[in-house]
Amino acid sequence: MSAFRDRYGPWALVAGASAGLGEAFARRLAAEGLNLLLVARREDALSRLATALRAAHGVEAVAAPMDLARPDLGDAVAALAADREIGLLVYNAAHSAIGPFVDRPLDEHVRVLDVNCRGPLLLAHRLGGAMARRGRGGILLMASLAGGQGNPFLASYAASKAFDIVLAEGLWAELRGRGVDVLACRAGATRTPGYAASRPKRSVPLMEPDDVAAGALAALGRGPTAVAGGLNKVAAFLFSRLLPRRASIAIMGRATRRLYE
Ligand SMILES: NC(=O)c1ccc[n+]([C@@H]2O[C@H](COP(=O)([O-])OP(=O)(O)OC[C@H]3O[C@@H](n4cnc5c(N)ncnc54)[C@H](OP(=O)(O)O)[C@@H]3O)[C@@H](O)[C@H]2O)c1
Repeated sequence: MSAFRDRYGPWALVAGASAGLGEAFARRLAAEGLNLLLVARREDALSRLATALRAAHGVEAVAAPMDLARPDLGDAVAALAADREIGLLVYNAAHSAIGPFVDRPLDEHVRVLDVNCRGPLLLAHRLGGAMARRGRGGILLMASLAGGQGNPFLASYAASKAFDIVLAEGLWAELRGRGVDVLACRAGATRTPGYAASRPKRSVPLMEPDDVAAGALAALGRGPTAVAGGLNKVAAFLFSRLLPRRASIAIMGRATRRLYE
């Protein structure tokens, strides 16, 4: 049994596991010998991944298709956790509404809140409570460079990612004394189906999902936040430490506009 599995096993729940970064997390965790609960909406993609993980690593892997915005999410997660010891939560799923805030339907922004804020809050509470009682575990929330300041044309998404970062920071400090490691991983542009589906008009340097997942898992237990990749670390330092806040907001807005207009 690996030290990682001792610390964060026997089960991990990956929310948003059917593609992109979530799939990369699931593959890495299965390779460490953790059993996987795979959550996302697309049952076929989850089932294919579960079959592949069982075959490649001899772990248990269960597809648990659901919409993380469902009103009874707490009950659904409680049912999944009822007879399983979930030692690691990776909350990776996200929804984004790209474009001028007032021109996007309100429902989209509310969905951003539900998937990106309510979901991780609820899962961290349900699963984190059991971890704290057991005295071990981990919670990893996927966040973004966008969460470091306001981001015009991605306003609700950036605000939701700021929520995730600040939530993780608070929980990191609260739970470290109870044996639970908490981390927000701030990614930059990453080559995922979700990124491609956003239809960027220009090419920018992209990280590979497996590199982001590997870095995030390595950073778990080392501090409240980690930025994925060297270039992103420089950008994060520039935006949050060197530039005046209104300059950071303006640069993020210009970059987002150039990418999508
Ligand atoms: N890719 C980037 O450039 C980038 C940059 C910075 C931060 N991030 C962060 O990294 C994380 C993953 O990004 P990604 O690019 O890998 O995303 P992605 O390719 O769009 O995948 C998102 C995952 O979440 C699931 N999901 C989305 N909405 C859901 C819902 N309502 N209920 C259940 N599952 C849902 C999707 O599966 P289903 O469609 O099957 O539900 C999918 O498995 C996100 O938190 C994102 O904010 C990504």
